[in-house]
Amino acid sequence: MTPTPEPAPDSYKRAAIIGGGVIGVSWAGLFLARGIDVVINDPRGDIEDLVRAGLEEITPALAELGLSTENLTAGLSFEADLAAAVAGADIVQENGPERLELKQRIWQTVEQNAPAHALLATSTSSIPATAIAKAMTRPERLIVGHPFNPPHLVPLVEIVPGEKTSEETVRQATAFYAALGKKPQVLRKEVPGFVANRLQSAIFRECVYLVAQGVVTEQELDDIVTSSIGLRWAVAGPFRTFHLGGGPGGLPHFIEHLGRAMEAGMWPVLGSPTFDDTTVATLIDQANAAFGDGTVEELAAERDRAQIALMRALGETPGSATSHG
Ligand SMILES: NC(=O)c1ccc[n+]([C@@H]2O[C@H](COP(=O)([O-])OP(=O)(O)OC[C@H]3O[C@@H](n4cnc5c(N)ncnc54)[C@H](O)[C@@H]3O)[C@@H](O)[C@H]2O)c1
Repeated sequence: MTPTPEPAPDSYKRAAIIGGGVIGVSWAGLFLARGIDVVINDPRGDIEDLVRAGLEEITPALAELGLSTENLTAGLSFEADLAAAVAGADIVQENGPERLELKQRIWQTVEQNAPAHALLATSTSSIPATAIAKAMTRPERLIVGHPFNPPHLVPLVEIVPGEKTSEETVRQATAFYAALGKKPQVLRKEVPGFVANRLQSAIFRECVYLVAQGVVTEQELDDIVTSSIGLRWAVAGPFRTFHLGGGPGGLPHFIEHLGRAMEAGMWPVLGSPTFDDTTVATLIDQANAAFGDGTVEELAAERDRAQIALMRALGETPGSATSHG
């Protein structure tokens, strides 16, 4: 088979966004701000209003990131027929519901109708590309491009090849997301939940346990995180942190000195909470007390402003990457 030529990132002119919900809108905003035309495919009757409202909401953040938001929606269109929506796409980013059979159906139609050069990526946060691509005739074309919510803001995109995904697709996806200003990271194996969400899940389990046990409140726990490991991990991940924690002996010394104590004294006593009625009631009461003053939209806007300021301080705003538009 003749290999499909790999388009340079600047040749991405048209994107098909399948599923215009939380993630689809965010990708759409970023693509449009990068000068890529976007076609939205979503069966909801009110999808156009929803997407336009969603884009309006994230426009200030896109502008704050240094991206062009003038006439942001000039290149936006809607197409309810999936085959027609992907027919002219250079990139198809699927953000439909997290259901295997539905994603399999969507991707069968996409591969029959998208151009041969198009990059085919699913935003799934848990389903392996191997499973979705089982129903495809060319599974080598599909890849997971898993963003961290919201994709227009957070740099990471986990690129997770399936068993049959080709090297060329991996390269194509890596180059595309990097050119968008993202930080693509290719995983070496498919694991449930990929990496960032597994880490969040492990930490959140302990957070729920500590609050359920009455060790701290939600507000106190959040303050502990943002004033210690949150700040620290924005500049040095857990391994680099503990390499430094080992002093001149680095990580080897850390493992001997503190790591073994952590293994013996801490790992066995970490919590395994459940979302039983009492725990859920405690979590909800405390969330109302701690966060009830503002709407979620207001709190999200506040978080986004602080996140952008932090990214700017770290030189991680997309403005510093290759520009498309
Ligand atoms: N929300 C997150 O934090 C997050 C983060 C990363 C990845 N993801 C992944 O992104 C995907 C979408 O998640 P979301 O949170 O945006 O969900 P969502 O419910 O907000 O949006 C899903 C959209 O898909 C549409 N849809 C339903 N059937 C469809 C079909 N047949 N064809 C096209 N569109 C269809 C729905 O109308 C809806 O607008 C999921 O695979 C999810 O795992 C979510």
